[in-house]
Amino acid sequence: MQTVVRAELPGMPEHEIEPLLDRVEHWLGDLERGLALVYRDPGPVRDRVLRLVARHYGDRPARLRRRDSRRLLEPDWFQRPDAIGYATYADRFAGDLAGVASRVDYLAELGVTYLHLMPLLQPRPAPNDGGYAVADYRSVRHDLGTVADLAALADALHDAGIALALDLVLNHVAREHAWAQAARDGDPRYRAYFHVFGDRTTPDAYEQTLPEVFPTFAPGSFTWDDDLAGWVWTTFNTWQWDLDWRNPDVLCEFVDIVGYLANLGVDCLRLDAVAFLWKRLGTDCQNQPEVHALTQVLRAAAHMIAPSLVFKAEAIVAPSQVVAYLGQGEHAGRVSDLAYDNSLMVQIWSALATRDARLLVQQRSRMPRKPVTTSWATYLRCHDDIGWAVEDVDAGALGWSGAAHRAFLADFYAGLTPGSWARGAHFQSNPATGDKRTSGTAASLAGLEDGLRREDPEAVDTALGRLFLAHAVVMGLGGLPLLYMGDELGLLNDHAFATDPAHSDDNRWMHRPRMPWDVAAERHDPAGVPGRVYAGIRRLTRVRSGLESLHAAVDAEVLATPNPAVFAALRVHPAGTLLQMYNVSEHWQPVSWHEVARHGLQRPYDVLNEAAVEPEHGTVVLPPYAAWWLVDHT
Ligand code: GLC
Repeated sequence: MQTVVRAELPGMPEHEIEPLLDRVEHWLGDLERGLALVYRDPGPVRDRVLRLVARHYGDRPARLRRRDSRRLLEPDWFQRPDAIGYATYADRFAGDLAGVASRVDYLAELGVTYLHLMPLLQPRPAPNDGGYAVADYRSVRHDLGTVADLAALADALHDAGIALALDLVLNHVAREHAWAQAARDGDPRYRAYFHVFGDRTTPDAYEQTLPEVFPTFAPGSFTWDDDLAGWVWTTFNTWQWDLDWRNPDVLCEFVDIVGYLANLGVDCLRLDAVAFLWKRLGTDCQNQPEVHALTQVLRAAAHMIAPSLVFKAEAIVAPSQVVAYLGQGEHAGRVSDLAYDNSLMVQIWSALATRDARLLVQQRSRMPRKPVTTSWATYLRCHDDIGWAVEDVDAGALGWSGAAHRAFLADFYAGLTPGSWARGAHFQSNPATGDKRTSGTAASLAGLEDGLRREDPEAVDTALGRLFLAHAVVMGLGGLPLLYMGDELGLLNDHAFATDPAHSDDNRWMHRPRMPWDVAAERHDPAGVPGRVYAGIRRLTRVRSGLESLHAAVDAEVLATPNPAVFAALRVHPAGTLLQMYNVSEHWQPVSWHEVARHGLQRPYDVLNEAAVEPEHGTVVLPPYAAWWLVDHT
């Protein structure tokens, strides 16, 4: 191994090569085991990967090497209670990359330590799925700036204690990417980067078991391409071509891209749509074991180049499947460091709509434990729609029908159900399966838009209570909380999205508004709605960062109470026990004192509201949408 690595770094002094050799030795097992699970002849692939690793190690700027050494002293930085994430499109937040750099203070004031900038590498011309159709991984979208601006932004963020996360779109590239272009020009080497079929036989066979991701605007999973004279696999849109990861050339290309992005100062790569990487006939072509083997390979290579780099899996899959992305069995702790906790988002909205937390408790009780070195990314809203991923087995445990409940949630949040306060919209209704998803900002889904439109102060107060409760759960269950831009101010749906021809057929743009900086300027006004939302979020981030028991190394245990509208979350940490209680309804809700005391809290003190909790007649009563974070005051 040493010879392969050294050959790439001629003239590098021995003391500089040594850290790389140590890392190669440390991660080689992960790399080799992962490769052996995927390729028939892994030896030559390993050597190619190591050569790329050495080259990028050689190119790594000195300031980032220093960052690596510091991060090795705090490998749990993304698990810590003071870690707060924020996700936004650079242009929608601040115009361009330089604009984002000029807004670092705003993020720091909010307590943000992790910034996910939505796709900003050069995409195909619109439509491009919000940038998820990448045409060039080595240049920045021209209207946002340059690669040098990106590196400068990373520096500015690092100086403010903020890590930078970017998407790594590895399931597909744009039809205009150089690899796809070469394939269309007839180069067989590049044709082999994609899944191309001469006729419909194989696509038809796969489609027997393939679900549709965008049934409305991109039905089917294969697209005929005249240049290729064949059908190419396109899980998402027709111009997003799925890569064939069976081809080791594809893996090596991505090792190279990972090294390149790491050396610009990127701290976290969000593995976009990672569940779809590997295809297997007769399956839904998601969550195949090879996905985890490939992630392990990529991570081992990344850690050799840049030990400070972490991976976040974007696998919006069934709760029973998602833990595998943090690692189970032989991959435990060796794949992604973070993974989206999509089902928590679904369950929070479900509990609010039904004023019943039992489904949430049931679902959480089935979540397998995750490796202690990893963390969930918890969130209430993101740039995507909400898919109502309620599993039949969980609904069934309550005597509910899964299909009926999923349909109820989609209709409720589209504002179609009598009594609904929500102002969202259906996304991608699929009449064939009955599946309907939901678009809308957190505030509009929580009733704020409805209350403001109707000029009903009581409805506004209730909506603010709902929003606070929901964010408290996101920040309290443990994991890296991700705020979606504008949720800290309660931004409503952007109904103007439909006037932009590039966005009009995709109503996810309704919850991707532009940052109104005039509204943000009112964030310290305690009387205004933005100020009230902001104060709540700020209180949560501040209290959270001081509670060691929220470290993601321990899991929360979600508990039922005898009152269906109230659930509890218990975090037992050596630093102290934290018991959270949440009322998911707009009514006062009693719970027996015994429920609180049995968790060992003698004198419960609510650190969120800075008040002792006193039982009366053996009962504590939670106000509407109460969120209590209780510690023992003895
Ligand atoms: C991810 C993104 C989504 C995109 C898809 C295809 O799910 O979050 O916005 O449409 O991947 O890249």
